[in-house]
Amino acid sequence: MKIRLDILGKKYNEDKQYIRSFEYEYSDAGATVAAALCDINKREPLLDINKEPSEPIRWECSCLQKKCGACAMLINGRPRLACDAKLSEYGEAVSLAPLKKFPQVADLIVDRQPIFDNLRQIELWLGEKAQPDEKRTQLIHEASRCLQCGCCLEVCPNFYPGGDFKGMAAAVPLSRLISAVSDTEKKRIFAEYEKYFYAGCGKSLSCKDICPAGIDTEYLMVNSNAAAVWKRKR
Ligand code: SF4
Ligand code: SF4
Ligand code: FES
Repeated sequence: MKIRLDILGKKYNEDKQYIRSFEYEYSDAGATVAAALCDINKREPLLDINKEPSEPIRWECSCLQKKCGACAMLINGRPRLACDAKLSEYGEAVSLAPLKKFPQVADLIVDRQPIFDNLRQIELWLGEKAQPDEKRTQLIHEASRCLQCGCCLEVCPNFYPGGDFKGMAAAVPLSRLISAVSDTEKKRIFAEYEKYFYAGCGKSLSCKDICPAGIDTEYLMVNSNAAAVWKRKR
C-alpha cells in the first residue's frame, strides 16, 4: 500500500510555515503514522515527493506505545497520537500538522509547557498524606491514565494557554485529588477546581471521545462537579 504524507512544518527559530510531502509504502496493515515518520527519517538521502533533498521531519516520540503523549499532533485535522493512528485509516493521503493551541517549535513539535505551568499554578498536590476513598478506586484509576498530551485542549472551545480556564488536562488530575482529599485540604482543592475548571467550562463536551488514553472525561467531570461544586457525596 502507498500513502502520501503532507506535513505542515517550519524550521527552528523561523516563523514561515511550509508543506512538505513524502511518499511511503507499507505492507503491514497495522503500520502507524509514527512508523512512517521513523522510516522516512531513516532514508539516505532523504528526498521529498519531488525528489528534492529534504531535512528530517521534526517530531517528538518516546514510547511508541500510547503511553507518553509526546507524539500528539493533528492528523487530518483531528488531534491524535501518531503511534496510535493507523495509515490504513487514511487511504491515499494524510495531512499532519502540529497542535494549534501551543506554540509550534519546529515541524510537528509544539511547546506544551503551558499544560505543566497550569498544573503548577493550580498547586496540584496535597500537603499531607492522601487517604483515597475505596469507593472511588475506579475514578482514581481512570484519572491516572492521563498522558498530558493536550488532545482534549485542542478541541476545547474555551481553552487557550495563559487563560484562567485550565481545561480537561487539569480537571482530570484534579479529579484524583478530589477523590483523595482530606477534610483539611478540601476547601483549597474544591475552590481550585471551581475557579480553574468549573467556572470556565461550557459543558459542550467537545472533549468527549477524543482522549487517546480512553479517559471518560464526562464521567470524571460529573463526579468532580458533584463533589467539589455541589458538595454531594457520590
Ligand atoms: S485527558 Fe486525555 S486527551 Fe486530555 S491530556 Fe489527558 S490523556 Fe490527553
Ligand atoms: S466540556 Fe467543553 S468546555 Fe468543558 S473541558 Fe470539555 S470541551 Fe472544554
Ligand atoms: S510516542 Fe509515546 S504516546 Fe506516541
